[in-house]
Amino acid sequence: MSRIEQLLSQMTLTEKLGQLTMTASGYAVTGPIIVGDSTDSIKDGSVGNLLNMVGPGPTHEMQKIAVEQTRLGIPLLIGLDIIHGHRILFPLPIAEAASFDPRLWERTAREAAKEGAADGLAMTFAPMLDVSRDPRWGRTAEGGGEDGWLNSRIAEAKVRGFQGDDLSSKDALAACAKHFAAYGPVNAGREYAPVDISERTLREVHLPPFEAAVKAGVETIMPAFTDLNGIPMTAHVPLLRDYLRSELGFDGVLVSDYNAIGELIKHGVAADLVEAATLALKAGVDIDMMADAYRKGLPVALERGLVTMDEIDACVRRVLRLKEKLGLFDDPYRRGSTPEAPQALVDRRALAREVATRSVVMLKNEHDTLPLPASTQRIAVIGPLADAAYDMCGCWWAAGEHEPNTTVLAGLRAALPAAQIEHAAGVPILEDERSGIAAAAALVDNANAVVLCIGEGVRQSGEAASRAYPELAAHQRALAQAVFERASARGVPVIVVLFSGRPLVIPELDAKADAILAAWFLGTEAGHAIADLISGKASPSGRTPMTWPRALGQVPIFFGQRPSGRPMNADDFYTSKYLDVSNEPLYAFGHGLGYGRFAYSDLRVIPERVTENDTIRVTVDLVNEGKRAAEETVFLFMRDKIASVARPLLELRGFTKIALQPGERGSVEIEVAASDLRFLDAGLKPVFEKGEVEILVGPSAEREKLLVQTVRLV
Ligand code: BGC
Repeated sequence: MSRIEQLLSQMTLTEKLGQLTMTASGYAVTGPIIVGDSTDSIKDGSVGNLLNMVGPGPTHEMQKIAVEQTRLGIPLLIGLDIIHGHRILFPLPIAEAASFDPRLWERTAREAAKEGAADGLAMTFAPMLDVSRDPRWGRTAEGGGEDGWLNSRIAEAKVRGFQGDDLSSKDALAACAKHFAAYGPVNAGREYAPVDISERTLREVHLPPFEAAVKAGVETIMPAFTDLNGIPMTAHVPLLRDYLRSELGFDGVLVSDYNAIGELIKHGVAADLVEAATLALKAGVDIDMMADAYRKGLPVALERGLVTMDEIDACVRRVLRLKEKLGLFDDPYRRGSTPEAPQALVDRRALAREVATRSVVMLKNEHDTLPLPASTQRIAVIGPLADAAYDMCGCWWAAGEHEPNTTVLAGLRAALPAAQIEHAAGVPILEDERSGIAAAAALVDNANAVVLCIGEGVRQSGEAASRAYPELAAHQRALAQAVFERASARGVPVIVVLFSGRPLVIPELDAKADAILAAWFLGTEAGHAIADLISGKASPSGRTPMTWPRALGQVPIFFGQRPSGRPMNADDFYTSKYLDVSNEPLYAFGHGLGYGRFAYSDLRVIPERVTENDTIRVTVDLVNEGKRAAEETVFLFMRDKIASVARPLLELRGFTKIALQPGERGSVEIEVAASDLRFLDAGLKPVFEKGEVEILVGPSAEREKLLVQTVRLV
C-alpha cells in the first residue's frame, strides 16, 4: 500500500477534514477574517495547512508541531501570495506583462520562488490569470491584461518559474492558477460583482490561460469569488468537475479563495455551512481556505447522507499527494533551511532593475523630449509620487518586510549626479489638499526640464480597489495644470511619470505633456529603472498589454472585438459609433514608443497554402531609422475575414523582439502552429475551417500600422 493510502486508512474524520482546511496565521492580512493561534488545532490534526505565515523560524516551528506532535505526523502545506516578488519586489503583473518577454516572466517567478521557499513556504497563490478588459476593476493590476492568448503565454512561464524542474526541490513552490474563471468581467468593473458572459467568450478568452497552466503542470487552482451566469465558481460543477477535471484532466488540488465556501450562503445558493460545504465538495474543491465550512459542515453533511466518505477521501488523497510531490514527507524542513547567499540578493536586485526598465511603456514622446539631453542641468522633480518609496511597491505584496524601494527622486539623483535636482510634492497622493501647488509649480522657473510624478497611490489598485473614475484625482489634475501652464509659458518640457495599476483615462495629459512614461508600479528598483530611461541609459521597450480608453464610456474597449454589420463610418449616421467620442482608443494594445524608430517591410508568410498540421513561418524585415539603439516588439495577429461564425477583428498569435543599432537592419521570424488558427464553431467545437486568413504583423494593434499577407487554409 502506498504511503498515502496507508495514511488515509488510519485517519479519523477530524484528521481528514484537517487536511482539507487552510487557516491564516495572521502574519499578513489578506481577507476579512482573522484567526488567532492555530497551534492547538495543528496539534490535534484539525488544521493541516496554513496561509500567511512566512519566515524559516515560524514556519519550521509550526511544521515541527505537525510532524512531531500529531498522531500521524503529516507535514503542513504553507502558502502565501507572491504576486510580484517576495522580499524583492518586481513590477506588478500588468507591468511585467508589458515587457512581452516570456524569459523574464519565468525568471522573476523563479527568483520569487527561491525567496519564498527560503522563507519556509511550499506554495504560492499565483499567477493570477484573469483577463481584464475593464480598467475600473482593481485586480487588473494583478494580471496580464486584456488578451487570453497573451495570458496563456504568461501562465506557462509563471508555472514553470514557480515550480521549477523538480517540485520537491528546496527552491520550488507549488503554483496556483487563479481565479478560475472569468473573474475579470465582473459587472461594471465592480469588485466581487456577478459575471454574465457568453459561453463563447468564456471558452475563447477566459479559459485558455487556465488550460495553458494545466498543460504546464500547475499543481493547484483557485476558483474565483464570483458567480458566472448564476453559479458561484466555488460550486461550479460544470467548470470545476466537467471542464477542469474531466476535459483538461487536472488532478491537482483545488483550493478555495478566502472564505469563498462560506460566501456561498451570501451568494444565495446555500442556506448554511452544511449546504455550502456540500456544494463545494461536490464540485471538487479540495481545500477550504478560511471558511471553516468543511470542518463544521461536512460531519453533518455526512450524517445526512449529502456527501460520502469517498468524496472526502478523494480530496484528502489529492492534498496528501501534493505534499508528497513537494517532498514534504521526506524532509518537511527542506525549504527555509539553507539561507541564500548574499550574492543572490544582489543578482535579484539587478534582475528587478532590468525587468522594471523593460516594463515601462513610453506612451508619448513629442519632439524626442526623452531621453533628457546630457546638457540638462536643472531638473524640477514635482508631484506626490516622486519621493514615495512605499507606494513604489504596487499593490499586493504579502511578505511584510521588503527591501527598501528606490524612488524616482533618488534614482534621478544617482543617475544624473551633475544635474541640479529640486523637488516638491505639490499635493498629497490621495487627500485633496492644494496649498502646495503654487510653490511646486514655481520650481518650473528654474528648470530645464520637469519630471512630473503623478497617478494612483499604492492602495488604489488591487483587490477591493475598483474605481468608477479610473483617472487622475482632481487635486493632482490641478497640480498638473499649474505645471503645464508655467512650463509652456517658459518653453520647459514636462515629462509625466504616471503611476497606476491599470490604464487610466488621461486625455488631458496626452494633450499637454511632452512625454509620458506609464510606470505602473515597478517595485524595489522603480526609481533606478525610471532614471535609466529618462537619462537614456536604456531605451523604453514596454508595450501596453491593455488598451487605454480615451473616455470611460468606451469601456470595455479591446483589440479583439468582433466586427459590426455597420462598421464605423463618419459619413454615415447609422453606423457603429458614439456621438460624443471617437471609437479609437487613446493608446492601442501593444502601443509603446522607444528611442529608436522602426520601419517594417517585406512581410513573408510560408507556406501560402496551409494544412492543419503545418507550422507557418512569418518573417519581416526591420530597420532602425532612429538615432539611438533600441528594441522593438513585433506583434503577429490573424484575421479570419469570412468564417462560419463572426471572428474578432484581430487575434494575437505571436510576438517577438529585436534590438537594432541606429541604421541597422534585421529581420525576425515568428512561427505559428496552423492549429492555432482554429476557432470554435457554432457548436463551440474547434474547427480548422478552409478559406483565407490574413496574417498581420507590426508594432501594435493599430490596424493601419500592420503589414498584411493572406494565406489559404486547405
Ligand atoms: C484573494 C486571493 C488570495 C487570497 C489569500 C483573497 O482575498 O482573492 O487572490 O490568494 O486572498 O491571500
